[in-house]
Amino acid sequence: AASDPDLVERARAAREALGERVFVLGHHYQRDEVIQFADVTGDSFKLARDAAARPEAEYIVFCGVHFMAESADILTGDHQQVVLPDLAAGCSMADMARILQVEDAWARLEEAGVAASTVPITYMNSSADIKSFCGRNGGAVCTSSNAKQALEWAFSPEGAGGEKVLFLPDQHLGRNTAVLQLGLSLDDCVVIDPHKPGFGVTDDELRAAKMLLWKGHCSVHGRFTAESVAEVRERIPDVNVLVHPECQHEVVVGADYVGSTEYIIKTIAAAPAGSAWAVGTELNLVKRLASEHPDKTIVFLEKTVCFCATMNRIDLPHLVWALENLVEGRVVNRIEVDADTAHWARVALDRMLALPG
Ligand code: 13P
Ligand code: SF4
Repeated sequence: AASDPDLVERARAAREALGERVFVLGHHYQRDEVIQFADVTGDSFKLARDAAARPEAEYIVFCGVHFMAESADILTGDHQQVVLPDLAAGCSMADMARILQVEDAWARLEEAGVAASTVPITYMNSSADIKSFCGRNGGAVCTSSNAKQALEWAFSPEGAGGEKVLFLPDQHLGRNTAVLQLGLSLDDCVVIDPHKPGFGVTDDELRAAKMLLWKGHCSVHGRFTAESVAEVRERIPDVNVLVHPECQHEVVVGADYVGSTEYIIKTIAAAPAGSAWAVGTELNLVKRLASEHPDKTIVFLEKTVCFCATMNRIDLPHLVWALENLVEGRVVNRIEVDADTAHWARVALDRMLALPG
């Protein structure tokens, strides 16, 4: 739908009034009405790197979800303030791992005698206190564009030298990366279920496994199924199936290409005219790709509609409200991580930023 012209004008005027004092970041899953006002767009890795790119900007307006804004606060200077236009823009996956649960799980690993040889790796999609836990315990953060390098680092003697990885909170990214990119087997993986007594694993299972996968998932990407892949192949015979690694293992196994949102965009851009693509990721991005590449057939890999409800909370009215308040000198919806949490989370984030390209 077209944006309200009045709001577009107000957003433009507020941006102009703020000039270089504001830096607006937009994740690829954001609505078009919001993306048009972003200084940079990207996947979560690119945005984490770019957040610190404008040290002269007093305000970072983060059009994305809460954990991304927290990471931006950790990675930017103390003089910079991060604003999330709607505080209800969380992430259901990040909410599936709470720090107290993770600390209890670590105690469970200690009990089984495996904590000392385990490296905790958390997906970017987690709260700052979990990133901090990983930093304090010799681990790192990863995103969907560097999960392979992060696991290689965790297992390598030149890196963290671990025998096992506790992977938080997305079991699918952990499993897909371990099995399809590191050559581990499904039998090397066990699921750590915070809702089961003893986390649903025996000491023997913990000792035998290499990947301890937290039982979290993305409610958007988790909806794609192996049946949708089969159905689209039947419907469009030459179709290329391109999915995000947050999808379930059987969906990724059945796809032709897998990668982060940035990878998805680049792959479609480089594809020849006339080629056909079924894309398994958030719908705002798939729709944008379809409208930017009219010479290619681009369809959504599912019959039902899958927006990320929390990403969609950042809409033009919220962005205008945040910007106009900044013009008036009021910082609304500031995201601020406390100094101790930020210190250790930064250690884990810096380990990620130091991974080979
Ligand atoms: P990327 O931005 O790393 O592709 O991750 C997708 C996502 O789910 C962000 O919430
Ligand atoms: Fe979280 Fe999934 Fe939405 Fe990303 S798409 S913000 S992982 S719920």
